[in-house]
Amino acid sequence: MPSSSADELSPRDSWLQERSQHALARFDDKTPVIYRQRIELHRNVHEWIAGWGGSSLFLAGSIGVGKTHTAWQTCRRWLEAWYAPNRPWSGGPDLRTFRSTALFDALRPDGPDEVRRTLVTELQKCDLLFIDDLAAAKASTWTQERLFEIFDERYINRRPVIITCDVLPNGLPEITGPRVSSRLAEMCGDSVVLLEGDDRRKGVAA
Ligand SMILES: Nc1ncnc2c1ncn2[C@@H]1O[C@H](COP(=O)(O)OP(=O)(O)O)[C@@H](O)[C@H]1O
Ligand SMILES: [Mg+2]
Repeated sequence: MPSSSADELSPRDSWLQERSQHALARFDDKTPVIYRQRIELHRNVHEWIAGWGGSSLFLAGSIGVGKTHTAWQTCRRWLEAWYAPNRPWSGGPDLRTFRSTALFDALRPDGPDEVRRTLVTELQKCDLLFIDDLAAAKASTWTQERLFEIFDERYINRRPVIITCDVLPNGLPEITGPRVSSRLAEMCGDSVVLLEGDDRRKGVAA
């Protein structure tokens, strides 16, 4: 018996579903293995995903509370939400993820200018930028200037970032320089989420 029309996806929805499955499979491939497990997210993180308001998300907390895992899973839910049938289609999303140490390395002055310029432009424009462990290393004055280029462009265009960090935003001027930290504070607004609890890695070892 043929299925009723209510069971069938419209051509648009089926096209979206195919694109979404492809994008999510690619994202899962690049997600570090331990962060692929679906976890329950903090209530404020759900609100951030639902908001789509161009605000950024700052996940703070001490070592091992689950900041990086939360951020990877938040990126995945953000990606799922991008393909929701009721959302106006604006092309496939460009989502970039970086550990801060790898990012600071890539921005160093000793690499080829052209490669660095291309990276800065891509990170200014991508739809979502996730930087993990922003306070892991202090940025040099040069790197702070490149970070400023990236963050200022995202700030004036309301493009979101997700940051994980073991210091609160008021401790960031030391690491990123005051111009970046001031913009980031405004970009995140109320979306500064403090994850609390024990170091989960110690729980595993015990
Ligand atoms: N909600 C969760 N449920 C189960 N395991 C979790 C959860 N959040 C984090 N973990 C696990 O705890 C460990 C530490 O998490 P991680 O995100 O790396 O911590 P942080 O970035 O805060 O140092 C990892 O093994 C991670 O997979
Ligand atoms: Mg981490």
